[in-house]
Amino acid sequence: MSGFGRECAEIVRAARPGSYRVGMILGSGLGSMADEVEDAVRIPYGHLAEFPVSTVTSHSSELVAGTMSGVPVVILSGRAHYYESGNAQVMRTPVETLKELGCNILLATNAAGSLREDVAPGSPMLISDHINWSGLNPLIGEEDERRFLDLSAAYDADLRAAMHKVAETTGQGISEGTYMWFSGPTFETPAEIKMAKMLGADAVGMSTVPEVIIGRFLGMRVAAMSVITNFGAGLQAHGLSHDETKSMAQVGMDRMKELVRGFVQEVGHE
Ligand code: HPA
Repeated sequence: MSGFGRECAEIVRAARPGSYRVGMILGSGLGSMADEVEDAVRIPYGHLAEFPVSTVTSHSSELVAGTMSGVPVVILSGRAHYYESGNAQVMRTPVETLKELGCNILLATNAAGSLREDVAPGSPMLISDHINWSGLNPLIGEEDERRFLDLSAAYDADLRAAMHKVAETTGQGISEGTYMWFSGPTFETPAEIKMAKMLGADAVGMSTVPEVIIGRFLGMRVAAMSVITNFGAGLQAHGLSHDETKSMAQVGMDRMKELVRGFVQEVGHE
């Protein structure tokens, strides 16, 4: 089962010829990362077959191809989530397109709730592993044996080391942890957050895991990073809201941009 990645890649190449190194997916409130791209061509998702136009405010739904730190990159500014359509494969064609354009490295970003007191809103967290709590999988329906995908090292150790190196040289700290995927669109209950903590999660969110699985399935090297926008339900005095997600993602954005620019420079020339 494959999507329209090849056709979409041709459209992108017609607009901006070349081969690309790093593909990126931007999470809620993180769209301004795309402004970092130089010599950029922007293609609305509506012009690309099977690209899902996100219904979430703060997602802009365009593909941005250009360079960052001198490295050819493709940014998916805006992702669709499972909860928008009930389709766990909704990001299949967009990730295929990155791969078809030559991106061997995928960096997925998201906004997430922290379960750790020492990882506060506004800070970045590198994802080292995930727990798929949704019961869903974008490879359901895949017919050949490749569906039995090994996820024991889904989050590439060398890419993580590169991000840590950048965090050190820029004088920032970056924590690392396990991300737990809930389907959304509701936020979790305090009881679910307690459970998530007991099961070993460090952060919770409603995205990323499907794209990581698709990226690994396509043979890409994958890294993923959260911007913490809140503490999980029951761990902070006030309730949760999408407005808070968007505004705190802005707060985390400057650190995130510095890390991502450095990361692309570090891994894009390999
Ligand atoms: N839970 C799920 N998704 C999120 C959260 C959260 O607390 N914060 C930002 N996205």
